[in-house]
Amino acid sequence: MRAAIEAARSGLDVAVVSKIYPVRSHSVAAQGGINAALKAADSWEAHMFDTVKGSDYLGDQDAIEVMCREAPSDILELERMGAVFSRDSEGNIAQRPFGGAGYPRTCYLADRTGHGMLHVMYEQLVKHGVFIYDEWHVLRLIVEDGSARGVIALELDTGKLHRLHSKSVVIATGGYGRVYRTTTNALSSTGDGMGLALDAGVPLMDMEFVQFHPTVLPRTGILMTEGARGEGGFLVNSKGERFMEKYAPKVKELASRDVVSRAEQTEIEEGRGVDGCVLLDLRHLGAEKIKTRLSQIRGLAIDFAGVDPVTTPVPVKPGSHYSMGGIAVDKDCQTAVPGLFAAGESACVSVHGANRLGGNSLLETIVFGRRAGVSAAEYCKATEAKPFPDSALREACHSVAMILKRDAGESIFALKSAMNDAMEDFCGIFRNKERLAKGYGKIRELQERYKKAALGDRSDYFNNELLHYLELGQMLDISECILLGAMNREESRGSHFRTDFPKRDDVNWLRHTLVHKEGGEFRLGYRDVSVTKFKPEERKY
Ligand code: FUM
Repeated sequence: MRAAIEAARSGLDVAVVSKIYPVRSHSVAAQGGINAALKAADSWEAHMFDTVKGSDYLGDQDAIEVMCREAPSDILELERMGAVFSRDSEGNIAQRPFGGAGYPRTCYLADRTGHGMLHVMYEQLVKHGVFIYDEWHVLRLIVEDGSARGVIALELDTGKLHRLHSKSVVIATGGYGRVYRTTTNALSSTGDGMGLALDAGVPLMDMEFVQFHPTVLPRTGILMTEGARGEGGFLVNSKGERFMEKYAPKVKELASRDVVSRAEQTEIEEGRGVDGCVLLDLRHLGAEKIKTRLSQIRGLAIDFAGVDPVTTPVPVKPGSHYSMGGIAVDKDCQTAVPGLFAAGESACVSVHGANRLGGNSLLETIVFGRRAGVSAAEYCKATEAKPFPDSALREACHSVAMILKRDAGESIFALKSAMNDAMEDFCGIFRNKERLAKGYGKIRELQERYKKAALGDRSDYFNNELLHYLELGQMLDISECILLGAMNREESRGSHFRTDFPKRDDVNWLRHTLVHKEGGEFRLGYRDVSVTKFKPEERKY
């Protein structure tokens, strides 16, 4: 939405195509906040250093510099658009400590920051007259003569397929958390845009880096914001020990997420967990603070875990939360295909490297959303419209008809849970050669079974099963990319921890992984990391 607003501001005719109603997009679930160095005692350089260190030195420093320099003005612009932020005692935008940050620089709206921002973005879309095709699912990206020409989309409520011609396309479809069993992500987070780009010949970058958030509720995967630890919450094990003192003596619960999630998993695996979880203890914060700054997670803990954080510690465990990898783009959000841009979690700029800091994802959507809008608008102004031929639509109609025609085959729901199990069990927080090979074998087997799966619902109107089928196809490809990258990277860095290669190896692996899809097969490649201001050194928290 931020990209569309920027492109519309420059006078272009812009449309947003979204498989869900835009205010249901997953940013609505972002709780804890958005980072920017707003205070005189802080600086964009300090923000940049924390982000580079958090990324375990894999983030591209030129891109990180852009994000951290541009953050303060983007936050102030958001506020002028109408975004509401909690205030400090002097009436300024309040900022709280977050993991891996050397200064309290996370701006927030209690524990519903994304909700507040998303609604403002939507208001701005309406204000700028952006046309919204909501509940339309993009099936194909059209690339003709080497450049992007538009998309083919399925109108979900009628089942009709449409051609949408455009001079440029910006992909901003978020992450793929749903390839895992335990995830904070919405049902819609199925990585569709990454799959579309891959099919259109654009490589995905650093897919092996999957962020596991340290505090999610068991079973549902509902997020308990890092803001709870930012406000002073403790993590304790079954012996009542504040175990982070052992793993990150200086900053304890506010170490980067990869460090905290590994610590929790170790406690659980070594028998100091509580029913497969650790406990998030907020009681010492007092009822007033919990009810004002953490009111949403209090409600969620009561409704979904049956405990009130005011009186009782909340059971939490790590869960898949964020994709550091994505569609390979440059600082201007340009992909390898002219006219095709990507931003936000679906893209890999790369500002997060091997591990993202909390509060930098909303920021990335705003800074790089704006930049993608500028780039797409400039491209459109310099380009002639060239509609793509009917044959692309006919081919898409034929392939959907073939799926709906198949009257016998396996259920896609069984395939999806087998994929979730394989990814969670074999490509989770702790990885090794054997487990990854098992996961890869399983996903390859599921790819074959997927080709023969059949739908229970073969109707045209609002056929959710058809949507799930299409999403599953993309998720299997994404799972394969994650596994390929993870098998190949024989080192431990950020969120990618190999028990058989437990050390970071800058000599061989200070480089990005690329995955290309060619003729249905995947091929690996590499790209250099941009190192400008900060030389790689050992990360200590
Ligand atoms: O914990 C959280 O509130 C999540 C924030 C983020 O992922 O940036």
